[in-house]
Amino acid sequence: MPTFVRNLYSMYWKKLSRKAIKQRIDEALSENANYRKGKVMGVPASYLDNELFYDDAPFLEDSPFLKTLVANPNHIGVHTLGEETEEIFKGTQKIEAELIELISTQIFKAKPNSTDGYIAPGGTEANIEAIWIYRNYFMQQFGAKNDEIALVYSQDSHYSMPKGANLLLLDTFPVKVDEETRNINIDDFDNQIQSALNSGKKYFIFILNMATTMFGSVDDIDAVLPVIKKHNLNYKIHVDAAFGGFIYPFTNTDNKLTFEREEISSFTLDGHKMLQAPYGTGIFLIRKGMMQYSMTKEAQYVMGKDYTLCGSRSGANAIVVWMILMIHGSNGWQAKMEQLIDKKDWVLEKLDKLGVEYYHNPCVNIVTIKSKYISPFLMKKYFLVPDTHDNQPNWHKFIVMSHVSQGVLDEFIMDFKAELQMKQ
Ligand SMILES: Cc1ncc(COP(=O)(O)O)c(C=O)c1O
Repeated sequence: MPTFVRNLYSMYWKKLSRKAIKQRIDEALSENANYRKGKVMGVPASYLDNELFYDDAPFLEDSPFLKTLVANPNHIGVHTLGEETEEIFKGTQKIEAELIELISTQIFKAKPNSTDGYIAPGGTEANIEAIWIYRNYFMQQFGAKNDEIALVYSQDSHYSMPKGANLLLLDTFPVKVDEETRNINIDDFDNQIQSALNSGKKYFIFILNMATTMFGSVDDIDAVLPVIKKHNLNYKIHVDAAFGGFIYPFTNTDNKLTFEREEISSFTLDGHKMLQAPYGTGIFLIRKGMMQYSMTKEAQYVMGKDYTLCGSRSGANAIVVWMILMIHGSNGWQAKMEQLIDKKDWVLEKLDKLGVEYYHNPCVNIVTIKSKYISPFLMKKYFLVPDTHDNQPNWHKFIVMSHVSQGVLDEFIMDFKAELQMKQ
């Protein structure tokens, strides 16, 4: 029985009980080879050190995630390709494939069985994986040379873009954004493309953001596409939804960044941000037919080969993302994300009364305040993050995460008010 269905208008997957989740993980673990009970001799790994992590600890019985962590399955490779993968951990690898299908079809509106993907160490790897795949695609399909490929992204994009370009020897074309709206400056977008073309670039990798790191701003695909099309480019688009992927599609029913837009080929998400999963739960999704461009054929000892940057990775990380989505169901998760936006709106109302200037996207829980309003006291007390640690910052952000209680927000506003009164 599938646990999720999708109708034309909304996402829906059913909430599962703790018991049902435990049962499913127990079944998956029993399909995996067991280091304790099986005769597993060929792999350079084992269960976790049994001095520290004994498998008869009573609490493990009721904690499918910890149980999986101790069993220590390796999810090396990619398990959505429908090719042969390692038999040894096939139970939990099946859950990972199911998870990729759920996120692709439900949250990003892909057609069933039309995407591949994997749980990456983080958003950085998922972004670099996308750039790597597109670079190789242009090289293998069109004979592109490295210096003919341009990586184009807004100046508010995450540093994984220049990091990826550095590793993959690509030239970058960062595009200006409007200081107040954080929208991509379309004239500069056009200019950057033109200057890339003038310098001999023939192939383009574009990054669009679903919630930038500092502002939570979301790039408008309808603003950039006419420019891309005007230049008649050979291009691919990757969406960095590392922060926004688990909130924006739930709080904005008119989300335009989905697989329904044929121009978009891939997404990054991060379970270890909004989803409150442990670190190591980046998520990479890509249309079928593209993953092959990052295949390392020399990965001969891995059944099914490897397509990722990281190689070995913990199966427990895939399990825990699946568990979190299942325990809430889509309705529960949506309600949780809407509550965060309600809490943020409460703060914004207070900041408006105080005349404080800030940026926010209505469907994202990040608020970025102009630094002239932020004292060192406020920054330190509330761990506010500046846009730069090297120069005089222009902006400081806070994020209304689940742990940010109404009490903390009250105190923040009281301190803010007291400081502004003192200044006056
Ligand atoms: C928009 C965005 N993309 C990518 C990343 C990188 O994620 P990670 O730190 O998981 O590698 C971040 C991290 O803050 C981010 O905000």
